[in-house]
Amino acid sequence: MGTRLPLFPEQASTISAEVDHLLYFLMAVSIFFTLLIFGAIFYFAIKYRRRSEQELPHSVHTGWTLEIVWSVIPFGLTMIMFGWGASIFFRESRPPDNAMQIYAVGKQWMWKLQHMEGQREINELHIPINRPVKLLMTSEDVIHSFYVPDFRTKQDVVPGRYTTTWFEATKPGKYHLFCAEYCGTNHSGMIGWVYAMEPQKYQEWLNGGAAGSLSAAGGALFEDLACNNCHKPDGNGRGPSLVGVFGSTVKLAGGGTVRADEGYIRESILNPAAKVVEGYMADMPTFQGLITEENVVQLIEYIKSLGPRPGQGQPGQAAPAIAGSIPSNR
Ligand code: CUA
Repeated sequence: MGTRLPLFPEQASTISAEVDHLLYFLMAVSIFFTLLIFGAIFYFAIKYRRRSEQELPHSVHTGWTLEIVWSVIPFGLTMIMFGWGASIFFRESRPPDNAMQIYAVGKQWMWKLQHMEGQREINELHIPINRPVKLLMTSEDVIHSFYVPDFRTKQDVVPGRYTTTWFEATKPGKYHLFCAEYCGTNHSGMIGWVYAMEPQKYQEWLNGGAAGSLSAAGGALFEDLACNNCHKPDGNGRGPSLVGVFGSTVKLAGGGTVRADEGYIRESILNPAAKVVEGYMADMPTFQGLITEENVVQLIEYIKSLGPRPGQGQPGQAAPAIAGSIPSNR
């Protein structure tokens, strides 16, 4: 089963072979029916050709059996395609819980990547093999698309929101990274490399950079931007405390709730009036245009670091519940 056509890109992720097998199936079905239909056209055209001027066609009555056969077989085949395709799609669109996260920002015309440990890369991405990697991606300008053919993965990167993709590389190597959405003059130059490394080598690579972690950078920014003036950890500031807020369910002014995920925090930084927390005024200034998408990511990581990743469903703002604990080392 491991054979592949030489035209195909390398199979370098856990999902590559599956995607290829589905494609082989689709190709086989298409080729079979193309040959069958064209064969039949030529065969019948010759067999039932008109032999004389006087020859008239007789009327034909098809039976139910035939109707049913040629409806049920294509139906069955398309359902197999649907079921098979959907199962791969679901697998591809749901990152495993133990995936390591890396942030990606697309920009005309480059890929900027940030690791949790603080390493930043442009048009290069270093990852360990045999470990699921989740990318949380956004764009600074127009729609781009993160595409690594050898991993059989492609996901649009959209300004104003986060999209995710994930993959698990299976062999060390250097794999092409493309932008697969036409995004302007240098779209074709928006390319790079993914370096899949043995875990040991990857660790060495990570340690090579002197950068501080993303959340540390976010913490410094949090103070530079004076966010801490209002978002006091004890909940007595003008804004809600952010301790433990990530992953919790936040009650909103005017009713309704929202899950505090990356998208919500990003929105609250760039468009604070969009969803105001119950009991607070909509008086936070916007940081749209003042900070980059990479800064937003750093702030998100800082806010994540402020509390446990709940999911234990503490309702409402986590603020008053966990008062007064500021992590000293951030
Ligand atoms: Cu970015 Cu094409």
